[in-house]
Amino acid sequence: MEPKLSIGVILASVREGRRGEAFAHWIHAKLVERPELEVELFDLKEWALPVYALREQPGIAEKSYAEGTLERRWAEKVKSCDGFVFVTPEYNHAYPGSLKNALDQVYAPWNYKPAAFVSYGGFSAGARAVEQLRLVVSELRMVPVRDEVNVRLIGFTGDERGWPSDGLNAKKAEALVNDLVWWARVTKEGRAQHPR
Ligand SMILES: Cc1cc2nc3c(=O)[nH]c(=O)nc-3n(C[C@H](O)[C@H](O)[C@H](O)COP(=O)(O)O)c2cc1C
Repeated sequence: MEPKLSIGVILASVREGRRGEAFAHWIHAKLVERPELEVELFDLKEWALPVYALREQPGIAEKSYAEGTLERRWAEKVKSCDGFVFVTPEYNHAYPGSLKNALDQVYAPWNYKPAAFVSYGGFSAGARAVEQLRLVVSELRMVPVRDEVNVRLIGFTGDERGWPSDGLNAKKAEALVNDLVWWARVTKEGRAQHPR
């Protein structure tokens, strides 16, 4: 049997009363249904990484993050994953600073892995945050996957957990998972066969 693909779900909002927690658990549950995946949720509220303030750029600094520090554990966790789902709100037409800081902490561990997006917000459902994230993850040598979920909070219909209960978001989530799994498998094989 092929080894499982490791997927990290990154919950970007750290705000009190955040809506994002429900959406992160929702997409996590959908990923867990897939037998070929092992899935871990990374809540940036718990992973309270320091604001990046080092002299060196992350690609160099990450090689000497001290054992036991949050940065070192973050680097190891990111390295262990084969792909990611970023669950992000839209703050002032962008994604939150907590997520940018988490992305900035390391460099090589993100490389050549797929990034998928679940966004949420007002009229634009967080789509503007995702458009910006696509540029950032490209710089990290990630593969932004095409299929995404954008949950519109205006007129939102959810269940008692705050999970989307409409057919469209479920359909979009299925497409996202399919796209992510394909890229996670292909890039994992690529990294193994053509190390850089
Ligand atoms: C600082 C801030 C800025 C926001 N800016 C936007 C925005 O530009 N577009 C939008 O659709 N919603 C915006 N909102 C509303 C958020 O979409 C809504 O509060 C959402 O629940 C935030 O996600 P969270 O609850 O997981 O933190 C903003 C909210 C905050 C707190």
